[in-house]
Amino acid sequence: MGDKKVEETTEAQIAVHWQEEGYYYPSTKFIGQANLTDPAVYDRFSLDNFPDCFTEYAKMLDWYKPWNTVLDTSDAPCWKWFKGGLINASYNCIDRHLEKNKNKTAIHFVPEPESERVDHITYQELYVRVNEFAALLRDFAGLKRGDRVTVHMPMTAELAITMLACARLGVIHSVVFGGFSPNACADRIVDSQSRVLISMDAYYRSGTLLNHKINADDAVKIAKNGGQVVDKVLVWQRYPGKSSTETPMVAGRDFFVNEELKNYYGKRIEPEKMLAEDPLFLMYTSGTTGKPKGCQHSTGGYLAYVAGTSKYIQDIHPEDVYWCMADIGWITGHSYIVYGPLALCASSVIYEGVPTYPDAGRSWRIAQELDVNIFHTAPTAIRALRKIGPDEPAKYNYHFKHMTTVGEPIEPEVWKWYQREVGKGEAAIVDTWWQTENGGFLCSTVPGIKPMKPGSAGPGVPGIHPIIYDENGHEVTKAGIAGNICIQNPWPGQFQTIWGDRDRFVETYFARYCKDPKSKDWRDWPYLAGDAATKSDDGYYRILGRIDDVINVSGHRLGTKEIESAALVVNEVAEAAVVPVAHDIKGKVPDLYIALKPGYEATEALAQKISDAICEQIGKIAKPRKVWLVPDMPKTRSGKIMRRVLGAISNNKDVGDVMTLANPEVVVIIKEMVTGK
Ligand code: PRX
Repeated sequence: MGDKKVEETTEAQIAVHWQEEGYYYPSTKFIGQANLTDPAVYDRFSLDNFPDCFTEYAKMLDWYKPWNTVLDTSDAPCWKWFKGGLINASYNCIDRHLEKNKNKTAIHFVPEPESERVDHITYQELYVRVNEFAALLRDFAGLKRGDRVTVHMPMTAELAITMLACARLGVIHSVVFGGFSPNACADRIVDSQSRVLISMDAYYRSGTLLNHKINADDAVKIAKNGGQVVDKVLVWQRYPGKSSTETPMVAGRDFFVNEELKNYYGKRIEPEKMLAEDPLFLMYTSGTTGKPKGCQHSTGGYLAYVAGTSKYIQDIHPEDVYWCMADIGWITGHSYIVYGPLALCASSVIYEGVPTYPDAGRSWRIAQELDVNIFHTAPTAIRALRKIGPDEPAKYNYHFKHMTTVGEPIEPEVWKWYQREVGKGEAAIVDTWWQTENGGFLCSTVPGIKPMKPGSAGPGVPGIHPIIYDENGHEVTKAGIAGNICIQNPWPGQFQTIWGDRDRFVETYFARYCKDPKSKDWRDWPYLAGDAATKSDDGYYRILGRIDDVINVSGHRLGTKEIESAALVVNEVAEAAVVPVAHDIKGKVPDLYIALKPGYEATEALAQKISDAICEQIGKIAKPRKVWLVPDMPKTRSGKIMRRVLGAISNNKDVGDVMTLANPEVVVIIKEMVTGK
């Protein structure tokens, strides 16, 4: 640790600190209809009742064969939930609803252009489309149980259909966020050893029909250089029957799904009976090294956890119209657009476009038209909507009973606008803290039981028992003192391992506070989340930000090392350092400091080239706020880059004592360059 502790600039170090706020209480109308209002049910999730408490969630699902062991700890810390049980996720999200609800809308697909009609897909239609695509995947693409497939698609109903078709066959899907670059997609193809890539020809973003298939072509090429051959690219069409963009196809490798599907019309596929612990999907996320981690999620435990938390925290009832604005390419979309709401037979909205396009009223028109009553979004979207249309929600006739915020800390002022204007003072709000690794919520209020407190996520959700440790492994018991938030116990939604890298899984999440590496007792394996947090006297947790080299941009995780590695690909670059900077809409954005190799001149054009290289290799989401071409990096005497100093400069904070550095004079130069002072 030594040197690392000195040099790192983490999100937590530049966290916005706000005052403790007062409580807000849900309306009696909300409580009257809420799924969980009985504190005794909450109490059943105490540690005394662990792990059996979680069978309440598993019982919300249909099993082919019940489990015989609730939690198997024999391979600690790779926990196995509901061992012995047989289940299928596609069956639970579709087939079991048909008897009573086949004519109900499962998915409302809202295209970005308002001139296009919304596609209301019933559970029966979803059943038909998922079966036909599953038949194609099995019989045309040759995929079978246990195979991995990479899916690089935009926000369309076909993305959900693809995931559910994979789940039906027991094929492990690895969905890559549609905005990610071909390089990022290729890395995931190689790591998961996918020989099939599923893509789409085009999609709308802010009024432009973007050609998406070209990304697949590049990704396949790059993956091949990385040692993984993709032999089939399946391309959905945004407008079936006519090519919506120029989409060159490689003969024998690329196939339009909509054309091939004709051979499978009317086909039905018996869902595979999966073991509860069989993987359902991989979801890659950034970590402290350049290589993204493939979080492996189980079938039975994951589905039980997202169904249970959708019911108790999101308060989803089958008759609700639920809209989560996240992208399905992130974990929020997997758990709380697709698997959770559909497992509960709700109607889930999938919106193709950006919430603020073409104007500040777009989101509220969607809510009005579809009569959405549960709304789920991230602080970054709330800030953007508040900025461009603070009075806009009142102009539309919709009523949310419940709203969620997720992905980053929300400032109390922003929370209050969300509550007053978007929720019209009527909605119960939950601030949900969790991560890609977790499958579902960790801290939040149960909306029918606990009051809301702006800026605080809340206590552990039922069955989740957080604890804050200091650097030495002692519990931090004093209110308001920051430490590393951990979870004391396993839970069914927790990822099983990092795909193909168990050592990294143990090292990253458990090694720091493990009490005995040989132990098979879950009590010895607290889960390290990687966030700093404080606990208040009322047991509510406030999340301060990441303690590692990860930046949360608009609620999305980016590894600083990933961005630095992308910059180092540019020939002129000698050294690169990324630090998080506070941003009024996105929460945090990366600032990039570059030292050039000798003989190269610092020019605007070169800074632009480096910025473009990052967008090309990772995606636009990683675009630095600014590329600073500096004469040298501030360094310790042992040669380590002092990111802490750069972080302080970027955030206009005091750099502290720099006299012990090897080159304190460079700090003065950089400071003047960045702050003008
Ligand atoms: O730092 C925390 C922040 O987002 C990280 C997880 O990012 P990701 O895996 O991309 O998942 C995002 C959606 C679940 C966390 O380590 N974070 C997430 N939710 C909150 C949050 N920070 C504060 N408050 C939240 N509600």
